[in-house]
Amino acid sequence: MFSSSAAPFDPETDIPSLKDKVIVITGSNGGLGYEALIILGKHSPTKIYLCARSKEKYEKAMEGISAAIPNAAEFVKYRELDLASLSSVQKAANAFLAENDRLDILMNNAGIMAQPPGLTKDGFEIQFGTNHMGHALFTKLLLPVLTKTAAEPNSDVRIVNLTSDVHMLAPKAGFLPGECLTDMSTYSTWTRYGQSKLANILFTTELTRRYPSITSVTTHPGGVATNLLDSFKSNYPYIKMVVNPFWKLLATPASIGAWNQTWAATAPVEGKAWTKSEGKERRKVPEVRNGAYYTPVAKEGGQTKLAKDPELARQLWEWTEEQLRENGY
Ligand SMILES: NC(=O)c1ccc[n+]([C@@H]2O[C@H](COP(=O)([O-])OP(=O)(O)OC[C@H]3O[C@@H](n4cnc5c(N)ncnc54)[C@H](OP(=O)(O)O)[C@@H]3O)[C@@H](O)[C@H]2O)c1
Repeated sequence: MFSSSAAPFDPETDIPSLKDKVIVITGSNGGLGYEALIILGKHSPTKIYLCARSKEKYEKAMEGISAAIPNAAEFVKYRELDLASLSSVQKAANAFLAENDRLDILMNNAGIMAQPPGLTKDGFEIQFGTNHMGHALFTKLLLPVLTKTAAEPNSDVRIVNLTSDVHMLAPKAGFLPGECLTDMSTYSTWTRYGQSKLANILFTTELTRRYPSITSVTTHPGGVATNLLDSFKSNYPYIKMVVNPFWKLLATPASIGAWNQTWAATAPVEGKAWTKSEGKERRKVPEVRNGAYYTPVAKEGGQTKLAKDPELARQLWEWTEEQLRENGY
């Protein structure tokens, strides 16, 4: 378990003012995204978009967010987003673009894990389709506003993609293009999750290569007490009995689990000048390096050999583009 006392980052004091910044966080009605929204929301951004699958989920989340940040309703906006449906992703991106001419931080946080075999609305394996394809289209549609913002003087544009050290369970070939268009029921659910999380890393590698004006990184949050295991526990009740007591003991609370991704979204970028925050010098915290993979908090590296393969990253990017094109995006 990660110990907060040893962390080189304290979100209360080390995040500078986020004044003038527009932020989007997917899956921010619960778990790590919700905690990340509260952490960032305490530093006065212009707007944060809470992306959720329904208005009810947004309203429920706003109860807790408003308790933590009394004026949250003034700057936290709702955006409906179902990553398992490319048309929902397109609708969400278009609605964002109609309201905003800048985007400073895109946090692709939402995710599912250990699901039974299934397909997204567009026919992709459910975990790969949700965790990778949905975010790939969302990012693609938001790249014009991200690059436009990055071209402005003194801008600092970031894409933070949530991954997992479980990417090590991906298939030996990394990703299986033909199989991703099936429910992959002959593979273990962990192989399927691992494939989707490896894709998050490879996608980020290629994003960094193609869009160097944006700082893009992947973060693994550690083992964090969220709802991520719910599907697994409900499908395997005996596992619930065995896993639950240990999980409760070992898992990091979500409010601390969100530190790595909020550090990555706000810490100074390597090679860029440190900015003062509201006239005050900033305490030195580890810098963020474009394209890197981080485990909690701010520790670079530890990803598999496959996750470092630039050729695989290029292949995944091109295959993803082709699939999106074939689906009309
Ligand atoms: N918790 C961990 O130990 C751990 C470890 C490694 C990596 N991660 C990664 O951390 C990220 C956040 O997970 P978490 O632990 O916070 O899990 P969580 O508590 O289950 O939260 C996941 C969020 O994603 C949303 N989501 C799920 N399916 C979606 C869809 N089709 N469209 C849009 N949003 C969807 C959920 O919305 P609903 O409320 O509607 O389901 C929820 O807001 C994931 O990418 C996960 O892979 C977590």
